[in-house]
Amino acid sequence: DWTSESFVEQTIASLRTKLGNDRVVMALSGGVDSTVAATLVHQAIGANLFCIFVDNGLLRKDEYQQVLDSYLHMGLNIKGVDAKDLFYGALEGLTDPEAKRKAIGKAFIDVFDQESHLIEDVKWLGQGTIYPDVIESVSVKGPSATIKSHHNVGGLPDFMKLKVVEPLNTLFKDEVRAVGKTLGIDPTILGRHPFPGPGLAIRILGDITPEKVAILQEVDAIFIGGLRKWNLYHEVWQAGVMLLPVKSVGVMGDERTYESVVALRAVTSIDGMTADWAHLPYDFLAEVSNDIINRVKGVNRVVYDISSKPPATIEWE
Ligand code: XMP
Repeated sequence: DWTSESFVEQTIASLRTKLGNDRVVMALSGGVDSTVAATLVHQAIGANLFCIFVDNGLLRKDEYQQVLDSYLHMGLNIKGVDAKDLFYGALEGLTDPEAKRKAIGKAFIDVFDQESHLIEDVKWLGQGTIYPDVIESVSVKGPSATIKSHHNVGGLPDFMKLKVVEPLNTLFKDEVRAVGKTLGIDPTILGRHPFPGPGLAIRILGDITPEKVAILQEVDAIFIGGLRKWNLYHEVWQAGVMLLPVKSVGVMGDERTYESVVALRAVTSIDGMTADWAHLPYDFLAEVSNDIINRVKGVNRVVYDISSKPPATIEWE
């Protein structure tokens, strides 16, 4: 029978055998999977694990600093890299969802390549790939991999000459969380909703600008903060906000406004392959909607996405 305790014990032992005194580099995202994977490798080989956390300018509000702080607190050998300008530059003028994903993937590889070359004699690339990622990337289980390219699966190009180590690639998400708990990882990290690698770039429909990112970060923080305040955060599998390339007319005091529309998205799901829109309480939606419109300049209308997957996907791009 599978238990997280025996998984941890066996995985650490086999990582030690496999990795010996080799150095490993890992990019961390702040998400559950990469954090748990890094913790396992760290417990196996300690300071021979080199972690990199990239600020792509597409994370949630304040997330970069918070996540970096918690990694430092966990004792990981972590380097934060501010690459916001590189990513914004790579995205400039792009509107097609796949073009945005590819630009982000490439920018990420460029940053990662540069950083990993600074680590002398590194032999391995560690990744937080979990079983559903493996399945999706060969598109056995659903169409989503062929519809959307997931850039964080399967390793990096050959020129990096790194062998890949993926300690979680047989596990499902709930098993990853159980392993994380056994490893003593902070429950707030383990309980975090999934967040896409391309970040807010695929939640801003149309082209990406730092100004739009700032608006969406504020709206998203109100929505997620509201979910926590109303004890709804753990009732949903994932939540986020889309900034639409649509303006609508509103009225504020005596003034006519003509500003952006945002769409709130919250879903229930087991594994993200299928999902139902979350039937959130009307009073909650009313409060969040008011907060957003009153507090975020540039947004005058809030809508709630009531589409299930399939046929809709969780993200809009
Ligand atoms: P969809 O939108 O396909 O999303 O229903 C299913 C799950 O995957 C996440 N997602 C991504 N994750 N890179 C990622 O790392 C991506 O390009 C990507 N696209 C979607 C999405 O947030 C949801 O959890």
